[in-house]
Amino acid sequence: MTPHINAKKEDIAETVLMPGDPRRAKWAAENFLDNARLVNEVRGMYGFTGTYKGNPVTIHGSGMGMPSLSIYANELITQYGAKTLIRIGSCGAMQDDVKVRDVVIAMTATTLSTPSRGIFKELNFAPCADYGLLENAVTAARDTGAQTHVGGIYSSDVFYDERPDLNELMMRHGTLAVEMEAAELYLVAARHKARALAICTVSDHLITHEALPPEDREQSFGDMVEIALHAAFG
Ligand code: HPA
Repeated sequence: MTPHINAKKEDIAETVLMPGDPRRAKWAAENFLDNARLVNEVRGMYGFTGTYKGNPVTIHGSGMGMPSLSIYANELITQYGAKTLIRIGSCGAMQDDVKVRDVVIAMTATTLSTPSRGIFKELNFAPCADYGLLENAVTAARDTGAQTHVGGIYSSDVFYDERPDLNELMMRHGTLAVEMEAAELYLVAARHKARALAICTVSDHLITHEALPPEDREQSFGDMVEIALHAAFG
């Protein structure tokens, strides 16, 4: 038990998939895992554990933003022994050739700040994906037929952004997309020697202002769950 997770230690698997939305954790567990059971519901942040091809897997919500994800990632790794954490989320495209529905796999994530800022202080530590997970995820994503982009993303502290100059700067430096969690996931994983990866589907476009139609969201999310499971288990 931790302040935010009331599962027993043995109820959390070493491999954890983390969607932002807890209801998505429920949907993914019901549709992709065998024998899925609810293991956490503190604050409505559902966690489910089951198996995929015989491998134990937990699917646990992260909430929105780095402070929320940081709480769950810290507790899952340090108190429950999670060793592989894969974010499955959405992002806003920042390049013309990154389209709505495409898959973005983050090698690294730029930030203005993260909850780890107070630890690193003057150091600009580079958050970095686990290469083995990244390689498996790229193969799995291309196998689904999805257009797949691999590179740097931006983990923002705000959804309602008032700094178009920063977005422009990052676009000019090839940043693929913006979301709100990956950098802190990579930093927490690095601190505790866990493996981490963020896989996102493009739900909206910062240049064209196109958005993924609601009826396509479930399919895109399901594809990401499959990519994440293949990344974890090869
Ligand atoms: N900004 C931040 N996070 C996001 C966005 C966005 O445009 N789209 C999906 N997650």
